Amino acid sequence: MMSTATNRITDGDIQPEDQFDRALRPTNLTELIGQAQIKDNLLILIEAAKLRSEALDHVLFYGPPGLGKTTLAHILANEMGVNIKVTSGPAIERAGDLAAILTNMRQGDILFIDEIHRLGRIVEEVLYPAMEDFSLDIVIGKGPSARSIRLKLPHFTVVGATTRLALITSPLRARFGATYRLDYYDVDALVDISRRGASLLQVDYDDQGVLEIARRARGTPRVVLRMLRRVRDYAQVRADGKITGQVSKAALDLLNIDKLGLDELDRRVLLCLIEKYDGGPVGLNTIAASISEEPDTIMDVVEPYLLQLGYLERTSQGRLATRSAYEHLGFEANRQDSQQKLF
Ligand SMILES: Nc1ncnc2c1ncn2[C@@H]1O[C@H](COP(=O)(O)OP(=O)(O)O)[C@@H](O)[C@H]1O
Ligand SMILES: [Mg+2]
Repeated sequence: MMSTATNRITDGDIQPEDQFDRALRPTNLTELIGQAQIKDNLLILIEAAKLRSEALDHVLFYGPPGLGKTTLAHILANEMGVNIKVTSGPAIERAGDLAAILTNMRQGDILFIDEIHRLGRIVEEVLYPAMEDFSLDIVIGKGPSARSIRLKLPHFTVVGATTRLALITSPLRARFGATYRLDYYDVDALVDISRRGASLLQVDYDDQGVLEIARRARGTPRVVLRMLRRVRDYAQVRADGKITGQVSKAALDLLNIDKLGLDELDRRVLLCLIEKYDGGPVGLNTIAASISEEPDTIMDVVEPYLLQLGYLERTSQGRLATRSAYEHLGFEANRQDSQQKLF
């Protein structure tokens, strides 16, 4: 039995049930909770573009899944009053696909490219002049009679999103006027997101109820909303429908999500490191193989949060479990050997 990332409640990545989130998605910058600095920067970017009656600069968002990249792309379109065309790196297979999209853009429109690090090389090369000079080189005909013509495109905006900034080539990165890193949210912001979600879902709750969800949501709005739905189910089936501290706690305990939001997969990664490899260092692929999990899942979803908690370190030799990880999992004095090696 493989536990794939796709049905973990704590996975920030999008899952089928998240389609209901659409109704909960903030539509303008005022409704967006947290990320104050990005919000301020975007407000300036938007105002400036409007003052000059120009298209918005190309914008790149990066950060772990579920923190609001797609939401921000839609908010930008909304705030600018323009259309948004949504696509993704792997969806644009050929240069012709991109050309078809670009020739349908209108002045000011936004092209949102999710997972932009997965764009093919050839497609990327078509995108460069389109972003820089708003021009498109297309080849007409075949063989010796083939010739290239240059089309002018309206000034449009590319909004890119990625969980892996390091995989974006430097020429592509250089074409974005603004790049923003989305960070995990603090508990206060997550409490607000949880409250907002509960109100929109029309469920009754109290302060402790939303706090308990926020604390275990590993800094991620998408996880807050997902937990909120599970806790609501529990409240309706096992309690009187109200989300209280006790209800949230019981519901989340039942899902094996601990006080810090770690679930079984997180614990398996840490336990593997500690028990099989003496705390590390050990390579990502070795860990993944040991616990039959995808390296990508571990890298995108498990590790960023463990790093943030200070439970994991990435070194050039591989991953290391820290003292706090040992403590959290209840290993203390009885791991002399690895404790010495580490500290
Ligand atoms: N700052 C925020 N305030 C309120 N809700 C948010 C915020 N950021 C994200 N969300 C909610 O979390 C969900 C996931 O966000 P999304 O933009 O799809 O994340 P990403 O594209 O980074 O994976 C959205 O459906 C949205 O409702
Ligand atoms: Mg997204």
